[in-house]
Amino acid sequence: MLASSRTALRQAASKQFSVKAGVRTVSAWSNVPQGPPDAILGITEAFKADSNSEKINLGVGAYRDDKGKPFVLPSVRQAEKKIVDSALDKEYAGITGVPAFTKAALQLAYGPNSAPIKEDRVAITQSISGTGALRIGGAFLERFYPGAKSIYIPTPSWANHNAVFKDSGLKVEKYRYYNKDTIGLDFEGMVADIKAMPKGSIVLLHACAHNPTGVDPTEEQWLEIANAVKEGEHFPFFDMAYQGFASGDTDKDAFALRHFIKEGLRPVLAQSFAKNMGLYGERVGAFSVVCESAEEKKRVDSQIKILVRPLYSNPPIHGARIASEILNDPALNKQWLGEVKDMADRIITMRALLKEKLEKLGSKHDWSHITSQIGMFAYTGLKPEQMEVLAKEHSVYATKDGRISVAGITSGNVKRLAKAIYKVTG
Ligand SMILES: Cc1ncc(COP(=O)(O)O)c(C=O)c1O
Repeated sequence: MLASSRTALRQAASKQFSVKAGVRTVSAWSNVPQGPPDAILGITEAFKADSNSEKINLGVGAYRDDKGKPFVLPSVRQAEKKIVDSALDKEYAGITGVPAFTKAALQLAYGPNSAPIKEDRVAITQSISGTGALRIGGAFLERFYPGAKSIYIPTPSWANHNAVFKDSGLKVEKYRYYNKDTIGLDFEGMVADIKAMPKGSIVLLHACAHNPTGVDPTEEQWLEIANAVKEGEHFPFFDMAYQGFASGDTDKDAFALRHFIKEGLRPVLAQSFAKNMGLYGERVGAFSVVCESAEEKKRVDSQIKILVRPLYSNPPIHGARIASEILNDPALNKQWLGEVKDMADRIITMRALLKEKLEKLGSKHDWSHITSQIGMFAYTGLKPEQMEVLAKEHSVYATKDGRISVAGITSGNVKRLAKAIYKVTG
């Protein structure tokens, strides 16, 4: 560097950080720009500030009971009591978490007869819920995936996917998924885009209950998607944040993942227990890698540990112990499966009620997508301007893309909601 430009840099720096009696006169963070607020949190703020006693919040992706209240599963309460009664210590877990939990999480996702589990070739680590699992996965692929470090996510996708994978060092690309005109799956577009990806691309797939659209491929369509992934020698990354929550059946919701494995593909998987066990704030999840052999699994496992250690050393234990009790105790497990089904069924009932009420009001629109979509969210097809009117004039809050959390609908507010949507859509 030229001496003159070095001097100029030094002068600029000393202007910014001129030191008086050892104290910086300009804050080290004076150049930090204001970032935009989180879209969902913004909705919650607006909802809280609204004084209308009949206001409805359909923004947050968390289950509510039919009174609109947060719901702690009875099986979770019982598991928690068992844990407290057994007065366990609070020692650190290992880097990859509570083994009884991760072992059971594998069984839940891949199924009791899974060949990779029987052959002991699935590496798994507990994670900070689904987000943490995706982030470990992103970092693992960035470090070890031999192909191009690009990951293809659907349009649209969960709002955080882009940031999670970008911050992991991957290049984020998109594939077609949702058809605005049909308010359904753009199946041809999706398969065509998968076929057009460079060989060996990483493809992120929502295993079930696609967020934000609630639009899932049918089982027949999954067969074709698996074929396209195979043909392109692509690498499947499953995000399964809603197992059991979509259909009420944990096996049915794992169809896509298990089918890919049957086809000889070896995916990675992010699991979350936030929704299906209602363990949102406990942050219970898992990241797993289906390997070719037990020997490969050992090597992958060692590198996952090396990756996790500098991130957070080891995961929290309480939520994992709850999930472990529920998954490993046969009676509690049976009870939990019933509770998952109850949650899914309440959501399915609310979808049907909303559609029915809109039709009764005389709406000329086709609302069949409300009941054909699945999981926590419905993509209503409402435009951002209409969502704004819903909030301003009807105190109904949801994201601008027209997504509503069906979990926020109750038998007490569905009529008012239908009226508001009817008024806005005509
Ligand atoms: C598609 C999808 N993936 C992952 C997550 C992660 O959730 P969590 O980190 O709470 O488990 C969510 C949560 O809404 C989601 O919708």
